Amino acid sequence: HGTSRVNEKGHLEIGGVDVVTLAEQYGTPLYIYDVALIRARARAFKETFEKHGVKAQVAYASKAFSTIAIVQLIEEEGLSLDVVSGGELYTALKAGFPPERIHFHGNNKSRSELEMALDCGVGCIVVDNFYELQLLEELSRQRETVTDILLRVTPGIEAHTHDYILTGQEDSKFGFDLNNGQADEALQQAMQSTSLHVLGIHCHIGSQIFETTGFVLAAQKIFQKIADWREEYGFVPQIVNLGGGFGIRYTNEDDPLPAAQYVEQIIAEVKTQVEKFSLPMPEIWIEPGRSLVGDAGTTIYSIGSRKEVPNVRHYVAVDGGMSDNIRPALYEAKYEAVLANRVLDANEEVVSIAGKCCESGDMLIWDLPLPKAEAGDYLAVFCTGAYGYSMANNYNRLPRPAVVFVENGEAQLVVKRETYEDLVRLDVPLKIKVKKG
Ligand code: LLP
Repeated sequence: HGTSRVNEKGHLEIGGVDVVTLAEQYGTPLYIYDVALIRARARAFKETFEKHGVKAQVAYASKAFSTIAIVQLIEEEGLSLDVVSGGELYTALKAGFPPERIHFHGNNKSRSELEMALDCGVGCIVVDNFYELQLLEELSRQRETVTDILLRVTPGIEAHTHDYILTGQEDSKFGFDLNNGQADEALQQAMQSTSLHVLGIHCHIGSQIFETTGFVLAAQKIFQKIADWREEYGFVPQIVNLGGGFGIRYTNEDDPLPAAQYVEQIIAEVKTQVEKFSLPMPEIWIEPGRSLVGDAGTTIYSIGSRKEVPNVRHYVAVDGGMSDNIRPALYEAKYEAVLANRVLDANEEVVSIAGKCCESGDMLIWDLPLPKAEAGDYLAVFCTGAYGYSMANNYNRLPRPAVVFVENGEAQLVVKRETYEDLVRLDVPLKIKVKKG
């Protein structure tokens, strides 16, 4: 997919660059991003709204992968940005992202994070709970400014990939409940404040969703409420944000829709609702993370040791694992992979790919057909662009891998590999003198 292909040497090539060359140059594990594919995904979202003449913002959920370079690329493509912490906001600002196109999320923003957001002038703050509502009101009042907010509501729909659970009162740590009066109370409080301006309503129903049903149900529930709120409080939203969560294909078991289809369904439903309640058409905002960067990322590992459990399985170990991709251990996530330096070798066996962390659960892929691999071969694991680097950690004091962007035959290092020195940089040695003897 994307610009990936097999070159004349039988090597995997991405963005016109041989990944074996990249592995040799930058070392492994290495995350490689197909920039053209990210651009294509971004444009597909934007163009679908444009085609239907709908005012919209597509905000990249930077939790999926937040670095200065990706933020710059997102800016270049004209998208907005969703950040959920002071750290993600700092990254965005360092990248020169226009603050007015930043949306600040999170269920427990601290006072200092909110102050940072107000200081730099983010486009809006997505208020999640009563504590935040009060804190933000107080901070905005002190500054004598009016802060644009969205209210995050929990519509009582939970998407588990392709099932939707309709719960009367959803058990979720996020948002104001739409069904028990919380959302009404929050809206009333926000509208009473002269320091807050409610731009609109936000909801997010889940992640790695394959169908459009959940978005349609969420829109229906939200607009029903909006119609009530217009009657009761004269509230008419400028914006309705339906969140992210559009699924991608990790393996053949996954069956996502093209991005445009989710957007078209969302537009159609919003139009239906708007007509039904004779409301003005709001701007539609969405905030995809995974579907913008997920399948654009590939991780390259070096293969090292092997272990055979006779008549049971062959373990083949790589030089990374749950430290650079925690998703298999955390969610039993499945991946596909090839031998990057011998993609088409027909001499296959079935192996299980182990990571190098000291945990039995550190397995990347079970039962993968692969050409007979030896130490020094390179393994390419696909679709690691979202929640890979961003959830990477230093377990076992493994340095975090480097990240390279490739496009039109050129490669650019965008995150350096961590060094051992980096690993101890923040450590403070003991002051207590060690007793001798
Ligand atoms: N908006 C909100 C409010 C969210 O909570 C999320 C994801 C997104 C947007 C972006 O969702 P996406 O389009 O990426 O599905 N670590 C997990 C995924 C956690 C998603 C959390 N929220 C994983 O690796 O699958």
